[in-house]
Amino acid sequence: MTACAPRIGRHIVSRRIRLISRPGPVQPLKIWRGSLVYLTKTQSARYSSTQSPAATLELAPLPPTLKQKEAEVVRYDLPSGTAVTVHGWIRTIRKHKKFAFVNITDGSYDKVLQLVFNDPEQVNDLGVGVSVEVNGTVQRRDSLADPYEVLVEKYHIVGGVPEEDPYPLQNKYLSQDYLRRELPTIRFRSLSNGVTMRFRSRAVYEISQYFAENEFIQTHPPVITSSDCEGAGEVFTVVSETSSSPFFGKKAYLTVSTQLHLEALMMGLSRVWTLTPAFRAEKSITSRHLSEFWMLEAEVAYADRLEHIMSLVEGLIRTILTRLKDSGEYQSVLSVKTFLEKQKSQGGEGDDMDKEITRAILVQRWDGMLQDVAWKRITYKQAIEVLQQAERQGQAKFDTAAEYGDGLKSEHEKWLASQYAHGPIFVTQYPSHLKPFYMLPTPGSGGETVECFDLLVPDLGELVGGSLREYDYNRLQAAIEKAGIDPSELEWYVELRKWGSVPHGGFGMGLERLMSYLVGIYNVRDVISFPRWVDHCVC
Ligand code: 4AD
Repeated sequence: MTACAPRIGRHIVSRRIRLISRPGPVQPLKIWRGSLVYLTKTQSARYSSTQSPAATLELAPLPPTLKQKEAEVVRYDLPSGTAVTVHGWIRTIRKHKKFAFVNITDGSYDKVLQLVFNDPEQVNDLGVGVSVEVNGTVQRRDSLADPYEVLVEKYHIVGGVPEEDPYPLQNKYLSQDYLRRELPTIRFRSLSNGVTMRFRSRAVYEISQYFAENEFIQTHPPVITSSDCEGAGEVFTVVSETSSSPFFGKKAYLTVSTQLHLEALMMGLSRVWTLTPAFRAEKSITSRHLSEFWMLEAEVAYADRLEHIMSLVEGLIRTILTRLKDSGEYQSVLSVKTFLEKQKSQGGEGDDMDKEITRAILVQRWDGMLQDVAWKRITYKQAIEVLQQAERQGQAKFDTAAEYGDGLKSEHEKWLASQYAHGPIFVTQYPSHLKPFYMLPTPGSGGETVECFDLLVPDLGELVGGSLREYDYNRLQAAIEKAGIDPSELEWYVELRKWGSVPHGGFGMGLERLMSYLVGIYNVRDVISFPRWVDHCVC
């Protein structure tokens, strides 16, 4: 029996089972770690109804994470002296006359576990970055934040660090740019990157929940495609190293957006979504552009008003923000901001030391998005008028003047969200020549504008793009020809309009743009694990 398997009298029960003190007939249930486990009938019924089939089998438990260990200590109120085994990487070592303290972390949460050594000489072999397995005993603490520490009995070094090549993540401020450039594989062990990766994971979980609750089917469209969805020519071509002729018998690309395939899936499943890598051979070296990024896309059948799609986007973002705030991941992001601000004030390293926003601005950003007022919606035409008026009245000075018919520049987008809306803003109905072939013309505009929107947010600009799609066979065919696209490339897509076509619409949102905005990290390269951009495909 391990130290943490609780007992009832002579019956041993797994810690996964809820204990009931009422006596009653017992039934053997299973062999658990070499011991026969008995349960009362009621326990047995409860156990069977809550456990997955795998839980009743003798499957090997994984080595517990530090987060799981802490939860176990709290949940079972394990007393001081209980034996424990923990694993992690050493973050700090403090040696005193009579004791030594070593903090370890394992990335499962943003906290560290303090190890206590009664003999400071015991830590002589240890160094920052070393990975260890430690056997010791629980020492309860009177702190809710850190409910226990471990008094070390013995340890062994799992992976050391060479003396001549010290661990590069020492305890000082390193900017995101420095971490990415100098430590592309080690940076996930830093506090800031760890918290970002965990936040991203939680956000994807919340997104999946939201879609499931709203009857969307998650689908997996292909990454290799035969068409350029956006028609902008920013595609990467897929070729085989081993065949001289085209591998697929025709040109093939890495997808720039899965929208067209998602539309085909929508025609059978009504509401669909996906989170898929997207690839763009854009040479834009900005803090918002990656060559490989993750795009969240959704399509909705029978959506016949742009408002359907804008409301979907607003509802999705508001819901996940509210839930993320409750989940504690948000608090972790804020705590790390506070820690880094303090660390930065003591000096640090990196070119972009001052780029990251402060904790105070991040709080305002989240609160701004969650205010109890619907996000602003204006047409492209109104946006141009607002921008021109702002410049005329000296409220803004743009490098490029806003002109009707031209695309909005990043400076315009940022100004509209930051200075005009003071929060997120949907800009709708752009001129058709600025947008791809598949968008539905605005009724009554004679094809001048299309039923589309961009969602702009302060400091970042475009976060989401969406539209209603052309669902008439002949009009879509004509739009493809007008755009100068070879119709044979998109025959399969146009044909969808032949058999029971329905009005529909959808959107695409770059996951890294959302993450960088919510975590308050300036560059999208720092919220994806291995960023790719022009001339950069490091590891
Ligand atoms: O506005 P975009 O180009 O729209 C589409 O691709 C549509 N087919 C999506 C759809 O309706 N299903 O891209 C959508 C979003 C942008 O708003 C932005 O958030 C992100 O994708 N994005 C990028 N993110 C990082 N790096 C890039 N190079 C990006 N290009 C677009």
